[in-house]
Amino acid sequence: MMKILVVNGPNLQMLGTRKPEIYGSETLAGLEEKLRRISAENEVEIVFFQSNHEGDIVDRIAAAKNEAVKGIIINPAAYAHTSIAIHDALEAVGILAIEVHISNIYAREEFRHKSMTASACKGVISGLGIEGYEWALRALLNNINKVK
Ligand code: DQA
Repeated sequence: MMKILVVNGPNLQMLGTRKPEIYGSETLAGLEEKLRRISAENEVEIVFFQSNHEGDIVDRIAAAKNEAVKGIIINPAAYAHTSIAIHDALEAVGILAIEVHISNIYAREEFRHKSMTASACKGVISGLGIEGYEWALRALLNNINKVK
């Protein structure tokens, strides 16, 4: 079965309790559940990965190349603003990727306005809360022509 990889970067394991006024009260497990429901309707398998370590994220993206991963949803979190390594990994595997930020990074501190990783992605969704992941999944499925 076709796979979609969902990568969440540092501190997103604390979703639900971390600054809920910015990131909402849904947990990472709750988000997974929501995405699994959409993916089940569309006969795709969702593979989730969360890490606080840049190199582990690079390794996970590289490994996707040897799996049936047809799309990547990535919230690189703070690494979006710093990581050339994650940018290069996304570019190297050449898998259709969409970057998601729960908050609107352009409406926050200036150091969040620049994403190093976005240019290696097809598009970016920022500021729609965790719903952004659902839109990203639908966009990927649309691109792979499987949306129900
Ligand atoms: C974030 C925005 C980043 O600036 C921040 O470092 C995060 C989360 C978001 O989803 O809004 O950890 O990627």
